[in-house]
Amino acid sequence: MTDNADIAALIRTIPDFPKPGIQFRDITTLLLDAKGLAATVERLAALHPGPFDMVAGIEARGFIFGAAVAQALGTGLVLIRKDGKLPGRTVAVDYALEYGEDRIEMHEDALVPGCRVLLIDDLIATGGTALAAIRLLRKAGAEVGGAAFVIDLPDLGGAAKIAADGVPVAALVP
Ligand code: PRP
Ligand code: ADE
Repeated sequence: MTDNADIAALIRTIPDFPKPGIQFRDITTLLLDAKGLAATVERLAALHPGPFDMVAGIEARGFIFGAAVAQALGTGLVLIRKDGKLPGRTVAVDYALEYGEDRIEMHEDALVPGCRVLLIDDLIATGGTALAAIRLLRKAGAEVGGAAFVIDLPDLGGAAKIAADGVPVAALVP
C-alpha cells in the first residue's frame, strides 16, 4: 500500500496566497507531471468501493480530477458550478463562507433519482463546499456514496463533517 508520498512531493505550498496566513496547496505542479497525474487519478478512483453511476466534480479544480476519475470508472460527470454559470434550469444550495455567502448549482435534470454518486474535489479544508455539494446532490435525488479528495487539511475538520453527514470520505494526502 502506498503512502502517496510520490503525489505529496508534487504538490507545492505557496505561503500567503490568496491572502496573508493562508498556506495555499498548489496542485498545478502535480498536473504537470504525467506519472503523478496518472497515479492520482488511479488512486482517487480506488478510494471508495463502487459501483457508482456518476461522478460529480466541484468547480474548478474538481472538474479536472472529476473528469479523469469518471473516465477511469466508466461513468459520466455532473458539474457542480458556482452561481450563474449553467445555462439550463438548476437546483441551488446557498452556504456560508468564512466571510459572507456563496451558492453552487447543478442542472436539475442531470441525475436519475436514486443514482449513486462519487463526489470529487482537489481539496477539503473547512468542508463547507463539499457539504453544500452533498446537500445539492441529495436535493437532486442522488445518493452520495463517497467523497474523495486529493488533499485533506485535517486541522480544519472538513472531512470529519462529511463523515458525520453519513458520507464515506477519503483523501490521498494530508
Ligand atoms: C477550493 C477547493 C475546494 C474548496 C475547499 O476551491 O478547490 O473546492 O476551496 O474549501 P472548503 O473545504 O473550506 O470549502 P475554491 O473555492 O478556491 O475554488 P477554485 O477551485 O475555483 O479555485
Ligand atoms: N481551498 C481552501 N483552502 C485551500 C488551501 N489551503 N490551498 C488550496 N486551496 C484551498
